[in-house]
Amino acid sequence: MGNSPRILVVDDEPSMLRYLQTLLEVESYNVDTAVSGEQALIHLQQSLPDVVLLDVLMPGGMDGLETLEQMRERYPQLKVIMLSCVSDTRKVVQAIRLGAQDYLTKPFQKNDLEAVIQQCIGGAATVAAPQGEIEDLGDDVFFVCGSASMRKIRSQAKLVANVDIPVLILGDSGVGKEVIAKMIHKYSPRSHRTFLKVNCAAVPADLLESELFGYEPGAFTGATHAKPGKFELCNKGTIMLDEIGEMPPSLQAKLLHVLQDQQFSRLGSRTVQKVDVRVLAATNINIQEAIATRKLREDLYYRLNGFSINLPPLRERKEEIPLLLKHFMSQVAERYARPPLPLTPSLIQACERYHWPGNLRELSNFVKRYLVLGDEEMAIAELAPQGERGMTAASGAGAGGGGVGDDGLKSLVRSVKDEAEAEAISRALTETNWNRKKAALLLKISYKALLYKIRQYDIQPSGGAH
Ligand SMILES: Nc1ncnc2c1ncn2[C@@H]1O[C@H](COP(=O)(O)OP(=O)(O)OP(=O)(O)O)[C@@H](O)[C@H]1O
Ligand SMILES: [Mg+2]
Repeated sequence: MGNSPRILVVDDEPSMLRYLQTLLEVESYNVDTAVSGEQALIHLQQSLPDVVLLDVLMPGGMDGLETLEQMRERYPQLKVIMLSCVSDTRKVVQAIRLGAQDYLTKPFQKNDLEAVIQQCIGGAATVAAPQGEIEDLGDDVFFVCGSASMRKIRSQAKLVANVDIPVLILGDSGVGKEVIAKMIHKYSPRSHRTFLKVNCAAVPADLLESELFGYEPGAFTGATHAKPGKFELCNKGTIMLDEIGEMPPSLQAKLLHVLQDQQFSRLGSRTVQKVDVRVLAATNINIQEAIATRKLREDLYYRLNGFSINLPPLRERKEEIPLLLKHFMSQVAERYARPPLPLTPSLIQACERYHWPGNLRELSNFVKRYLVLGDEEMAIAELAPQGERGMTAASGAGAGGGGVGDDGLKSLVRSVKDEAEAEAISRALTETNWNRKKAALLLKISYKALLYKIRQYDIQPSGGAH
């Protein structure tokens, strides 16, 4: 008895208290009860339970959220599970934000209660030896989680997944906004339905509306047949609107309407259609600035911001780097069917020192290049600060050094690709004694293409590009 977990149940309804107490005592928990927030706080001063079950709605005095706030403030380690009603969505969301461990919607089954409590208590035991650090989200998407901040985000994402509200996902480029969106979809009741992503920056502004909402024949020049939009295709599912700040303001107004009324019409149609889509929006822009400059409509922002998740840049969670390196290495090695390369302490340290402006995407590309080029020294040199960096790129390749320049990852990927290409070409030319026809055959490219590339990379007979 002494070792069984202690639970404090807080509810203003005596019948509910009695019911929960009986249920929990049958499962041999130690149960204490309180009929108000005030009473619960007094109780906590005497002894701390393993878990608190706290009713959201408690009329008179402190309500559930206020009580939760006080509890979190005084006992940050205390685990609190909220008891809510179906109609309490907003309160549940607030509770998640305030740090509630989990929530249960009344009426719940005995099994649900047991599962939530077990997870809550079990979770405590695994803090020291975190397991499940790499989660497979399907379709070759993984969620690696190796820091306190990301663990918090993971649990919030999973909780909010169940509450059918929009979520705004914020963070710099490459921090994992899409991964989080996929996770929310996966843990939501919509998981067996469609998940679609629309990148608002990638579609030209005047096409975006038809892309999202579809059109009827004759809606515009070239619209010869009817076409459903992404919202229709995604009915009952989840849509991710990426780079929402790039959506034209007029379209933002239409989106707001869909979010409010679940209604829209195709371009060129007067028929209003019903649609049930959960919207997850993402952006890497500064929201306050975007609102101030009217790039983002404030009313839309408040709609989307039912819950927001702010992903920290990689440099603020460097403790994850070793784990991420290991993960990306095995992922890339598998994809390219190559044996993984060693991740030496000096390589890991170089990665930990670097500031990763492109975040996890840059890290994953870094691992890819390291695996392809197989040169640890060069990989480390690439991460050195600008001034200290040696010349590693093919001379005359015109794509700059090996690091991330002002125009970022794209040019870096290009430069590495160019480098590898120039190297292969000069090797083929040396092998064939500069017989360009033979070299072209060897490289499986046309003679003309080879001539072009020799000029492009300025490859010379003596010593080649390096
Ligand atoms: N927690 C994570 N665990 C494992 N891989 C991750 C994680 N977060 C991101 N990645 C990987 O990093 C890359 C970038 O992630 P993602 O596309 O989600 O970033 P993003 O924030 O949407 O970037 P952008 O702003 O450029 O669209 C992807 O290859 C993704 O699989
Ligand atoms: Mg993205």
